[in-house]
Amino acid sequence: MKETIDRLRSEGLERIKAAGNESDVEAIRVALLGRKGEITTLLRGLKDVDPADRPAMGAELNLLKVDLTALLDSRLGELGGGGSTAAMVGDLTLPGVPPTPGGTNHPLLSVMESICDIFYGMGFTRDDGPEVELDYYNFTALNFPDDHPARDIQDTFYIDPKICLRTQTSPVQVRTMERNDPPLACIFPGRVYRNENADASHSSEFFQIEGLVVDKAVSMADLKDTVDTFVRNFFGAREPTRFRPHYFPFTEPSVEVDMQCVSCRGKGCGVCGQTGWLEVMGAGMVHPNVFKAAGYPDDVYTGFAFGMGIDRIAMLKYGIGDIRLLYENDLRFLKQFRGVS
Ligand code: DAH
Repeated sequence: MKETIDRLRSEGLERIKAAGNESDVEAIRVALLGRKGEITTLLRGLKDVDPADRPAMGAELNLLKVDLTALLDSRLGELGGGGSTAAMVGDLTLPGVPPTPGGTNHPLLSVMESICDIFYGMGFTRDDGPEVELDYYNFTALNFPDDHPARDIQDTFYIDPKICLRTQTSPVQVRTMERNDPPLACIFPGRVYRNENADASHSSEFFQIEGLVVDKAVSMADLKDTVDTFVRNFFGAREPTRFRPHYFPFTEPSVEVDMQCVSCRGKGCGVCGQTGWLEVMGAGMVHPNVFKAAGYPDDVYTGFAFGMGIDRIAMLKYGIGDIRLLYENDLRFLKQFRGVS
């Protein structure tokens, strides 16, 4: 039997070395170690071996089985097949398995978080409100007259006459003031909805971030300083900003805030429509009627508020020309933001 074992070892070695593909390897495995394989048959025949020789023979045969299995696995590995873990771990020269790339934040979420971080740095806290909102908070408490055009169903998705999908994050101002006494410095990021047809600059859902500061003697100068600090930190340069008079029902006076065009630095180009300026947000001093709706005395406190579109800010920062790209979940687009924060 000893000779048979030696012969099987040397023959097996030769055959495994010569195996040219994975099925050759499997055929050798079956011929030697399969149910009717030569080694299996010898192992079965051990019971007929002289009891004195049996332990040594058994050990020899087992060793042969282990050695040939390892050789078969490693040959399979060389030929591109799986091989057993033992063989893989055994051969440290095998190339490693490349890691599967992990997921990352959506660019909109990254931009939202970095905007929030800048405001946290200025001492703001954060609050959230519902996306399905009472008409009262979305409009009435914000001093929108009953016949204001924004209430029209062409702009607002109504669920019933008193409930809508919020069209702005401004209603969270009132909800927060109802729950907290001044002083207050708070931001409210979130998704908003409008009944719009989608095109390169419009989407029926998008993101806004709202800010509210209320205290004694808060002034327009505080608003200007807060806006400038945000723009400088977010866009990373000393972009000048300007206030243009505007109208919002919930602020008086109201402004639109522009910053110098990041593309042409004020000279005028396609990005800024040749004006040299880009609109970044709406803002103003909180209207006394909004304080009244929230239950604040309007002769003790003043406050400022602002609201901006996160999508728009993301588009400006990364030069994205079409808002729809942010909602289509095309991995070729999203992968470009891997590692961007
Ligand atoms: N809610 C406004 C909008 O959706 C943006 C806005 C303007 C928010 C002025 C404000 C503000 O807080 O003071 O267009």
